[in-house]
Amino acid sequence: MCGIVGYIGANDTKDVLLNGLEKLEYRGYDSAGIATLNPDGLHLFKVKGRIAALRDKVDATVQATMGIGHTRWATHGEPSEDNAHPHQSGSGRFTLVHNGVIENYYELRDQYLTDVTLVSETDTEIVVQLIEVLYQESNDVLTAFRQAMSLLKGSYAIALLDAEDADVIYVAKSKSPLLVGLGDGFNLVASDAMATLKETDTYLEIEDKEVVLVRRNEVQIQKFDGTEVVRAPFKAEIDAADTEKGTYAHFMLKEIDEQPFVMRKIIQEYQDEQDNIKIDADVRAAMLAADRIYIIAAGTSYNAGLVGKQIIENLADTPVEVHIASEFSYNMPLLSKKPLFIFISQSGETADSRAVLVKIKSLGHPSLTITNVPGSTLSREADYTLHLYAGPEIAVASTKAYTAQIAVLTLLAVDTANAKGLTLDFDPLQELAIVASVMESLTDQKEQYADIAKAYFTGTRNAFFIGRGMDYFVVQEASLKLKEISYIQAEGFAGGELKHGTIALIEDGTPVIAISTQENVNYSIRGNVQEVAARGANTCVVSIKGLEQDSDTLVLPHVHPLLTPLVSVVPMQLLAYYAALHRDCDVDKPRNLAKSVTVE
Ligand code: F6R
Repeated sequence: MCGIVGYIGANDTKDVLLNGLEKLEYRGYDSAGIATLNPDGLHLFKVKGRIAALRDKVDATVQATMGIGHTRWATHGEPSEDNAHPHQSGSGRFTLVHNGVIENYYELRDQYLTDVTLVSETDTEIVVQLIEVLYQESNDVLTAFRQAMSLLKGSYAIALLDAEDADVIYVAKSKSPLLVGLGDGFNLVASDAMATLKETDTYLEIEDKEVVLVRRNEVQIQKFDGTEVVRAPFKAEIDAADTEKGTYAHFMLKEIDEQPFVMRKIIQEYQDEQDNIKIDADVRAAMLAADRIYIIAAGTSYNAGLVGKQIIENLADTPVEVHIASEFSYNMPLLSKKPLFIFISQSGETADSRAVLVKIKSLGHPSLTITNVPGSTLSREADYTLHLYAGPEIAVASTKAYTAQIAVLTLLAVDTANAKGLTLDFDPLQELAIVASVMESLTDQKEQYADIAKAYFTGTRNAFFIGRGMDYFVVQEASLKLKEISYIQAEGFAGGELKHGTIALIEDGTPVIAISTQENVNYSIRGNVQEVAARGANTCVVSIKGLEQDSDTLVLPHVHPLLTPLVSVVPMQLLAYYAALHRDCDVDKPRNLAKSVTVE
């Protein structure tokens, strides 16, 4: 959470900072600010609210060729102008932006800052004040910066301006993401390459516990002990067009529509010349060696993991447990003798998942990250990575990453099954190609979902989704999508569980959406629909060809029973999208949320 941009070069910096922050708004959007430095001194602009409000506030007449900016998702201190970054030291000499959480900020305050008056409630202000106190001791900014960084516990990505030095931005990181962008006569700092793709496609990774001096024509990386580090840059493989909405009103709708292409891209990337599945031999060996797989994930990725468990167990015959990352440490199961941990994460930055990765690595267990961002923290720190190839997912509500995760888990399962010599009556590449066509047919008929969303969700306080078997996992994702973007209180329930308590919530008109795509539960889920209808619920059934009844609201084209989540989730995503639109909600940036959750 929180996004950082920095620029030092020959041109005015405002637009680079503001455009970059706009691209980083997915990381948090409750307050924002920029600081620029020119011969007249430091210019600070901060707002509570979005980058659009910051743009209005920034004085267009102030020209400066270096600056730093920040978009915030509040952790310590409410969203306000005082708590917005950049933060300054008491004298105003040092100005800093920070992404992450400083865990020992009370200790640092009590040990170093007893004589300092703090003006915000943030952990970040402690850092910039600390740098000033340490500078007073050493009279050397780099020494003070380095000392301060080595005192910090927790996570941070930091960029610092010294008002008395117009030639350098000081940068450091630990656990939080930060890249240095390389240009001709300018250099940049960004939480994500997406922020500054217009300026450059060439980036340098920064590792934890390094200090980087970013100048106009030079970037110098040092370890905390001052040792110089030489590192080759890399090209960001993101098409700038993928980060734009194009003709779409919202990124979420664009990303829902992209799902058939993502399926085809996955087929292409994971297929070799002989039409076999192409999975790295090391990953295959790790899957074969595992006596049990532990899937660790959060939110939508967790929901994809639930589906993945069924697919892996069915096809590859390896037992799988799925765990919510933030709970794993407290409810850690007794591990099997040869566990393999699979981390599923769109962003590859989720702090809850990373905490588990750190823990299981310390126990010596192997790990695989399945992510949409190959250079991300989880991807770099796990033993192996599989890429989702979904393209940048910018809407906060995850859609195409969910289906990509299930597709990649399917290929992984089949590859493992093949390596085990199991005979499968299932051609995954062909079945996924069918899924892609079905997805296309569903996204081609959007209008009907707008009408259904209106009929079921207008004016409702709550909504329930029910399913059994595989469909139970999809209704959990359906309810998450609806609640996070429309703010309707929604839950996904196992159909058979309703009568054990939840049915008490059903009133006249309560929307209950049932999914029925599995033959073995078709009869019983329909019984559950009757039960809630008899108690006044406004019921909607989404079924699949071959299992349909006349009264069903939607009948999906047939796909393989193991892959039905890939298609039944599409109407659910669209219903959530239109419900949010009807309620005038900010679809791409729902309240209180951020896309990349880098705090535990
Ligand atoms: C919901 C959503 C979140 C994420 C969760 C994990 O639409 O996007 O629930 O799925 O925060 O994020 P990643 O997958 O980046 O680890």
